[in-house]
Amino acid sequence: MIGNLNHVAIAVPDLEKATATYRDVLGAEVSEPLALPEHGVTVVFVKLPNTKIELLHPLGANSPIAPFLERNAGGGMHHVCYEVEDILAARDKLKAGGARVLGDGEPKIGAHGKPVLFLHPKDFFGTLVELEQV
Ligand code: CO
Repeated sequence: MIGNLNHVAIAVPDLEKATATYRDVLGAEVSEPLALPEHGVTVVFVKLPNTKIELLHPLGANSPIAPFLERNAGGGMHHVCYEVEDILAARDKLKAGGARVLGDGEPKIGAHGKPVLFLHPKDFFGTLVELEQV
């Protein structure tokens, strides 16, 4: 069902520092910061040959990643995103198997303008899983 790894998201307390580390220490190509108020984050995309890293920093008062950074003050891996061809079919199959879909269970438009869903980390070995329809 799942296809390519679309991205790994890392929540960071200092976006400028994290961007500089990926650019200057790791030698990766990084984007300009992109504010996504509807998602409560500012994101920097790190382009790798086979996938992306997304550096996430809270934006606004009710950022969904603020509680994560409270628990992980130095930052940490927030989620992995796998591509699927049909997000509704994937959701229905996962739900039938007992996996929990976060929120109201309906896909939302994600950071790349495509439908996404999140799956409960307790059902996937402590890792928040995002599915993105491609
Ligand atoms: Co993501």
